[in-house]
Amino acid sequence: MLLVVRQVLDDRLGDDQGAMLPIKASSQLAFRVGGLRVDVIGRGAELDRTRAWLKATSSDRTALFIEGEPGIGKTTIWSDGINQARLEDWTVLVCRPRPSDAGLSNVGITDLLRNVPDEAFADLPAPQRGPLEVATLRKEAGDGDLEPRAVGTALTALLAGMAVRGSLLLAVDDAQWLDAASARALAFALHRQDRGNVRLLAAFRIETGTARASAAFTTFESALGRDHIDRVPVGPMSVAAIHRLILET
Ligand SMILES: Nc1ncnc2c1ncn2[C@@H]1O[C@H](COP(=O)(O)OP(=O)(O)O)[C@@H](O)[C@H]1O
Ligand SMILES: [Mg+2]
Repeated sequence: MLLVVRQVLDDRLGDDQGAMLPIKASSQLAFRVGGLRVDVIGRGAELDRTRAWLKATSSDRTALFIEGEPGIGKTTIWSDGINQARLEDWTVLVCRPRPSDAGLSNVGITDLLRNVPDEAFADLPAPQRGPLEVATLRKEAGDGDLEPRAVGTALTALLAGMAVRGSLLLAVDDAQWLDAASARALAFALHRQDRGNVRLLAAFRIETGTARASAAFTTFESALGRDHIDRVPVGPMSVAAIHRLILET
């Protein structure tokens, strides 16, 4: 059976990626993309798997990777996951790296934490708070190098503190472009969450013909372990769904 979900992504998605507004509806969901309502055709199995992953209570379901070729529909499924999480009162932090971000240290976590209020940082011990605030451009850098371990430890404590209030989803689109420092800090922090529900929902571009995984993928896989990562491969749409897409567009 075809599942049609009305999706409307917030039209500021490119500039303010945290501002994706869920709209409640009985069996349909709504998002806005660039001000346009977009019907999502098919993808019932992929949407179901993503929603089921969110509902899973087991502590070993740390990350879900939505994987596929460019343009295949990963962001669409990833957006539905965010929408579902928000409907179920998760706090969602979003970042969507660009190709040019890959070489810029900590730009990913800077984006991810940009809507986190200062009070959440205030609870951190000073030796951790300073490095994380410098790494995420909340504070001017002083002398000396940024210590990645201090940034990772501070991020661990920050996320744990936020998760006390409820489930926390870290949503990263195009995670293959996540800069190495952010991927390391996130992997470090996710691996060390032992109480609250903190999860990573990431979309990864897989290029045809390459067996090589992106550096960010390898970082998450080695820190979290394969058993803690669920994967939703996104392949071509069914003929029925393509037919419906043609009829509805
Ligand atoms: N199931 C679908 N139904 C309707 N439109 C879709 C569907 N999947 C993707 N699209 C459209 O195709 C385009 C590419 O999809 P997107 O999710 O951005 O792909 P990816 O993230 O894999 O590059 C977007 O304009 C999106 O709205
Ligand atoms: Mg995409």
